[in-house]
Amino acid sequence: MQAWVIGNWKQNPATQHAVNALVNDLKQTDRTCLAPSCRLMVAPSTIHIAGVSAQLQGSGILCAAQDISAHSASTGAYTGDISAAQAFDAGARWSILGHSERREYHQEDHETLVQKTQNALSEQLGVIFCIGESQQQYDDKQTLEVLSTQLDVIADVVRRLDDPTILSTQLIVAYEPVWAIGTGKVPTVDEVSATHTHIKHTLAGYHNALANTAVLYGGSVNAGNAADFAASRVIDGALVGGASLKAESFMTIAQAF
Ligand code: G3P
Repeated sequence: MQAWVIGNWKQNPATQHAVNALVNDLKQTDRTCLAPSCRLMVAPSTIHIAGVSAQLQGSGILCAAQDISAHSASTGAYTGDISAAQAFDAGARWSILGHSERREYHQEDHETLVQKTQNALSEQLGVIFCIGESQQQYDDKQTLEVLSTQLDVIADVVRRLDDPTILSTQLIVAYEPVWAIGTGKVPTVDEVSATHTHIKHTLAGYHNALANTAVLYGGSVNAGNAADFAASRVIDGALVGGASLKAESFMTIAQAF
């Protein structure tokens, strides 16, 4: 099974100079000690996608967009939006969709995410679909129920696609408990493993093509705890925020997988 270690840079770094330095550091790190099955990807801010993907050309590190427009047209009067076609043209090959920060600060709902997922897939952009429960939902033991509801987006996309088998190579799911993001708090590996088993079972029930979907864990993953998560056979990699902004910690996490 392939493992993925993906850096979500969010609204970082602050300057083009710092972006260049991070990319240079990434290119210079020794990747010979990574497992051959481990694939790397980074998701810079929209404004940096073209530059970063050009600099990473030939490095084996892929580039993703952090979001794409819900409007299906590749061009049009949608101020501030970036279409899937534009992201692909700039060098992105994947897009992070449904991140809890997008759900919270941009009110992204079920239909918006169905639309965005369809738009990405129609332009050959893979989808890293994020799901996760809040602290309250975790405390109330509603995690699996919440995740099933969030995964309904994928069920709807499967129903609407002419050929759902494209999802066997174009979909990654990232489980990110909202309460673990940027907090230093993490669920136990056993908790994450049980949750991933539920996610995998749910996805397989939608369509055979989703039976081997990679399910990543995200939320305060760092160089010190990555190996614990990597030891679980149902945790297929990590979606990393803060620790992906330093090449060294990102690569240490990657080595764990
Ligand atoms: O998408 C990655 C993310 O939300 C986790 O962020 O900083 O807790 O690793 P962080």
